[in-house]
Amino acid sequence: MAQLWGGRFTKETDALVKRFNDSLPFDQRLYRQDIRGSVAHAAMLGKQGIISDEEASKIIEGLGTILSDIESGELVFTNEYEDIHSFVEAHLIDRIGDTGKKLHTGRSRNDQVALDMKLYIRDEIRETDLLLKHFLQTILRVMEENLDTFMPGFTHLQKAQPVTLAHHFGAYFEMFRRDREHLSSLALRMNTCPLGSGALAGTTYPLDRDFTAKELGFDMPTRNSMDGVSDRDYLIEFLSTLATCQMHLSRFSEEVILWNSNEYRFVEIDDAYSTGSSIMPQKKNPDIAELVRGKTGRIYGALASLMTTMKGIPLAYNKDMQEDKEVVFDAIDTIKDNITLFDQMIGTMRFRKDVMAASAKNGFTNATDAADYLVVRGVPFRDAHGIIGRLVLYCIEKNCALDDLSLDEFRQFSDQFGEDIYDAISLETCVEKRLTAGAPGRASMVSAIEASRQYLADKTEAER
Ligand code: ARG
Repeated sequence: MAQLWGGRFTKETDALVKRFNDSLPFDQRLYRQDIRGSVAHAAMLGKQGIISDEEASKIIEGLGTILSDIESGELVFTNEYEDIHSFVEAHLIDRIGDTGKKLHTGRSRNDQVALDMKLYIRDEIRETDLLLKHFLQTILRVMEENLDTFMPGFTHLQKAQPVTLAHHFGAYFEMFRRDREHLSSLALRMNTCPLGSGALAGTTYPLDRDFTAKELGFDMPTRNSMDGVSDRDYLIEFLSTLATCQMHLSRFSEEVILWNSNEYRFVEIDDAYSTGSSIMPQKKNPDIAELVRGKTGRIYGALASLMTTMKGIPLAYNKDMQEDKEVVFDAIDTIKDNITLFDQMIGTMRFRKDVMAASAKNGFTNATDAADYLVVRGVPFRDAHGIIGRLVLYCIEKNCALDDLSLDEFRQFSDQFGEDIYDAISLETCVEKRLTAGAPGRASMVSAIEASRQYLADKTEAER
């Protein structure tokens, strides 16, 4: 009885354990990095006389054929192999025989996987940075085209003071610029090579770690071999940068959704980037923006997941760390799609300048400027604030804007008002007078745009 059940159970469990333990289904995407690391390792083994030059060349050549066969689709990933490292090594041995068995001299899969992930993240930093740069170019173009597109600026989602679309987009330019800066500083900070750390304690072979570090484009080898194999901080930093970037995308999405709503009508999303309803024929939904906003959970989740995975791991390598891959890969795939689609959606969106300007006009966004008008004429600010507050209340009762009042009506509240009040509180004046650095006034924005253009022309660390 037990044997029947046990035999069956053992067999089932074996299959499950294999599936549970294997990482090839997801770490196969590291094949380029894995082969690149192996080529550098083999070259170093040859140079150090740990294997012969001939053997090194044979290994490097064999690795080259594996790479090109994977790329061409001739060599496919089959699930009898545990992970990308075993897959490549087994195929190398198949192809070049016993010499292939020497590749793993002085190396462990622990330093190998640490290297692969670092190389991979370095590549992905570059790609993400490039997408962000393109997105910033789109944002900048909208800014350049909308220096005089007036719209209400909001606080508490209540109309506050008038700004321009250029200024509003300029705020997002700063956010995504900071995201790029995080990527660049991470690229610098993580640029140490774990290869040669061995399983945890280095090795007795005379490895030249400086050589492999240099070959692979690192600044230097990692300083401690136990840390070398078990450091995943750079993944956490990377995910934290993606999470912040995603938070920016999500805020932007929220605004696009609001602006696209029937109540705001500030923008119209291009047909190619919106979808309809299966039942309500009139609908044109901002699904892309909603999905981008919705995917925030996955990216924050990846960060929380890896932070939690790492928190109880004693030194050095433990298999828990294999759990870094799927969440990191998913976060990368997700944010790259998000940035690309959002960029395209923003780039094709139509801005209803008339609706924005009208909205800015009828929400008392010029009340601060009306108060400032009195201040210039000697009324203390606190009194001016009170006078304009009473004027606003008067307008609300009359259902009109400050600009609609007659001079007589203005003067019922203060005799300091003159004919020039209308010019002083016009939308144009309210924006144009805001010329402090970073403000929406045209001259300030022109120099902000110029500086942004210059910034995009310079290469960042992540681009190098
Ligand atoms: N698949 C493993 C990972 O992703 C590779 C390292 C395995 N090392 C080991 N000693 N089992 O972390």
